[in-house]
Amino acid sequence: MPVTLVTGAGGEIGHTLVPRLAKQGQAVVALDLNPLPPDTASHCHAQLVGDITDEAIWKGISDRYDVVAIYHLAALLSTTSEKHPALAHRVNVGGTLNVLTFAQSQATARGERVRVLFPSTIAIYGLPDATTKATFARIKEHQWLQPTTMYGCNKLYCEHLGKYMTRHAAAKGVDFRCVRLPGLISAETLPSGGTSDFGPEMLHAAAQGKPYECFVREDTRIPFMVMPDAVDSILRLMATDASKLTLTAYNIGAFNPSAGEFADLVRSAFPGAMITFKPNPMRQAICDGWPADVDDAPARADFGHAPAYDLPRAFNDYLVPAVRSRYGLSSASVTR
Ligand SMILES: NC(=O)c1ccc[n+]([C@@H]2O[C@H](COP(=O)([O-])OP(=O)(O)OC[C@H]3O[C@@H](n4cnc5c(N)ncnc54)[C@H](O)[C@@H]3O)[C@@H](O)[C@H]2O)c1
Repeated sequence: MPVTLVTGAGGEIGHTLVPRLAKQGQAVVALDLNPLPPDTASHCHAQLVGDITDEAIWKGISDRYDVVAIYHLAALLSTTSEKHPALAHRVNVGGTLNVLTFAQSQATARGERVRVLFPSTIAIYGLPDATTKATFARIKEHQWLQPTTMYGCNKLYCEHLGKYMTRHAAAKGVDFRCVRLPGLISAETLPSGGTSDFGPEMLHAAAQGKPYECFVREDTRIPFMVMPDAVDSILRLMATDASKLTLTAYNIGAFNPSAGEFADLVRSAFPGAMITFKPNPMRQAICDGWPADVDDAPARADFGHAPAYDLPRAFNDYLVPAVRSRYGLSSASVTR
């Protein structure tokens, strides 16, 4: 039967994306190293527990399903990749090559293109110093493609790999589409292993009345977006006719508070919030090389990227109410 494959479906993005795909009527087959959380599993046609680097798993999928689209979310994130670089390369590059090879074989077998969504990242950029970061405050897709982390190198190479496969596949092969995501903030799930995690971590800690020691300086500024907007853009990109797309990899952005500004918003929503700053040298260096913001004009023009949430709305209408409800707090002290 025709299905949509989602790798890494058990993670943060999968938690929002899988129900949206199911709502569109797509039969989702999920593949993850670990069993899915029950609220994600309930939206899937089937779930497979397995490793994307294991070639046998791909044979099993092709024996059972016609895969018409792939959302390839499985990866090791930036901080984890920096701690385990060889493993990161194996999963992030080797796993992606398996996904693309599988997509090519599905397309060839059925004589139609298979769309592959690849979530890339602002980590593919590498700015050498604070002056350059200030000068290129809204980075364009072709600028400063000089990643400094294993994760950034992996993702940039995979963008090229996807482009290569698409170019050489002619009419019946891989149709690779990529968004370069900023740091994502979800009210429903907690991140792990990313270097933009300080934003969501300080919010969730405050809602639980826990102290939070932020691992970057207060003046650290990178772009963020709330999870529903990121998933919305991913779905828009995947639904767009190929003839309208002028790039393979698109920036998408929404807002870009500094860590200190983010902390102030958290404090105004949760007046008892205990937030301190103690930069971790490795994680600070990663954020210092990332752009302060992205220019996402091509995404807006080509596939209608239009985040519904700016920073005040993200806090007041999405994050704070949902986080309060998640931790069983009344809505009385939500600030406006
Ligand atoms: N969340 C963000 O802020 C952000 C920003 C930029 C890019 N991205 C990219 O989006 C994708 C999804 O991010 P997320 O936040 O949902 O990540 P996540 O860490 O929450 O989820 C990743 C999932 O992949 C699975 N996985 C890891 N290795 C695997 C393997 N070898 N085989 C099968 N499954 C494996 C994990 O079990 C996990 O469920 C990733 O590719 C990430 O690089 C995320």
